[in-house]
Amino acid sequence: MMKAGSSLLAPIAKRLDGKVAVITGGASGLGEATARLFVKHGAKVVIADVQDELGHSLCQEIGSDSAVSFVHGDVTKDEDVKRVVDSAVAKHGKLDIMFGNAGIAGNMDPSIASVGYADLKKAFEVNVFGAFFCAKHASRVMVPAKKGSILFTASTAGSTAGVVAHVYTSTKHAVVGLAKNLCVELGRHGIRVNCISPHAVNTPLLRETLGVTAEVADRLIEEAGNLKGTALEAEDVAAAAVYLGSDESRYVSGLNLLVDGGYTTTNPAMQLTLEKILSGA
Ligand SMILES: NC(=O)c1ccc[n+]([C@@H]2O[C@H](COP(=O)([O-])OP(=O)(O)OC[C@H]3O[C@@H](n4cnc5c(N)ncnc54)[C@H](O)[C@@H]3O)[C@@H](O)[C@H]2O)c1
Repeated sequence: MMKAGSSLLAPIAKRLDGKVAVITGGASGLGEATARLFVKHGAKVVIADVQDELGHSLCQEIGSDSAVSFVHGDVTKDEDVKRVVDSAVAKHGKLDIMFGNAGIAGNMDPSIASVGYADLKKAFEVNVFGAFFCAKHASRVMVPAKKGSILFTASTAGSTAGVVAHVYTSTKHAVVGLAKNLCVELGRHGIRVNCISPHAVNTPLLRETLGVTAEVADRLIEEAGNLKGTALEAEDVAAAAVYLGSDESRYVSGLNLLVDGGYTTTNPAMQLTLEKILSGA
């Protein structure tokens, strides 16, 4: 099977040279992979997360304190996100890229009957309120600079229905809607706003949500994927973030970039059901 591996991890040119980025949820999974790739491309990165120990040890591993640093930040708290943005500006003098990536799966029970107030509150606070606060505080410093790139990690669950539980699906649809609405307001100030919507990636979030090992997750991702002979990896999402954060995408705004190998273009239910009926199952 083809791996993302060296072609994505060995940049030809420093495509983010001179850029300053905040990555929320940067201590693990997709955020971690993005922090690593951003630093390789010459960006100064501030990782914000609630996992302080992991965040600090990751920074030590990736690079010098001037290249990558950690700030505790709970995206559900307006004042925490404000502090994260202010500390990035205090350290590096500006903010070019806000990657609002932190997210949780929440209650994955597919039944509406199972949804309680606490489930809704928790998932919306992290996935949606967090995105609002990231945009609010990033735009506060980007508007006077008349430029910037705001990115969110949504999900294929933000473009499909009936596959993933109601709560997560609703939060990700909200993130896609927010990005589009923001691109209109902030476009007037030269700021671009885009989403990255990955299909399943083998991260702690996916494994813990499904209660499966890394091996089972790998198998699921490959077999359920539309694009065969390869599987989505965190580095593929990081590569999309490099593109949307860099000047290569200077006229791209309001895009929900699906990194899904075509998964959302297809619905195999009819074919699978036909195969089941014909096999006598
Ligand atoms: N893994 C997938 O299959 C997949 C697919 C599509 C979209 N996503 C989305 O990608 C994003 C990253 O997920 P991941 O798979 O890398 O998961 P992950 O659990 O590996 O990483 C998420 C990070 O977010 C942090 N976080 C959680 N709550 C936070 C909060 N309140 N404030 C700050 N940080 C917080 C966690 O500590 C963790 O480090 C999420 O928004 C998720 O919904 C994941």
